[in-house]
Amino acid sequence: MTCIRPSKFAHVVYRTRRFDEMVQWYQTVFGAKVQHRNPVLAFLTYDDEHHRFAFANLSLLQPEESEADRRGVIGVDHVAYTYASLNDLFETYARLKESEIRPYWCIHHGITVSMYYADPDGNQMEFQVDSYASTEEANAFIDEHFSANPIGVEFDPDDWLARLRAGESASNFLVRQVHEPMSPVRGAMTD
Ligand SMILES: [Fe+2]
Repeated sequence: MTCIRPSKFAHVVYRTRRFDEMVQWYQTVFGAKVQHRNPVLAFLTYDDEHHRFAFANLSLLQPEESEADRRGVIGVDHVAYTYASLNDLFETYARLKESEIRPYWCIHHGITVSMYYADPDGNQMEFQVDSYASTEEANAFIDEHFSANPIGVEFDPDDWLARLRAGESASNFLVRQVHEPMSPVRGAMTD
């Protein structure tokens, strides 16, 4: 099978116990603005991408740990690559599956359809497709839905692949129709 390449690099997500300080730092250094923020997650951007950085607040997600600088917990959570179309993402899924490389989390974030993979070291990466053509539409989705569900809704990749290959329109999948149940945050090392 041909190897479909991502169309661009999209964002980095960090896990932190210095949530407020980190969000402020990226605003100061990059001139980033906060797209959405709640006590657990913050999304920032500095250009026309819906988010370039996100921060997960470990003080709330893992309150039992206290070592502020413990490696493997604090730091990069994942990096994200955007594919040009849903077909590209799912044909990549099919190609990788033949090599026994499977995503550990398939999640419709509302603004992206995403599959998360881990490399052999456990470094996590998100392969995604934008649900909306414009940042305005993505921002409107964030404003409407992220308060109730900032994570997303899981999907079955084999089911979607079969339906796409059977000719079902990508638009049926890109715009999320259901907004619950909210998925737990899954990680390469924990599942
Ligand atoms: Fe992401």
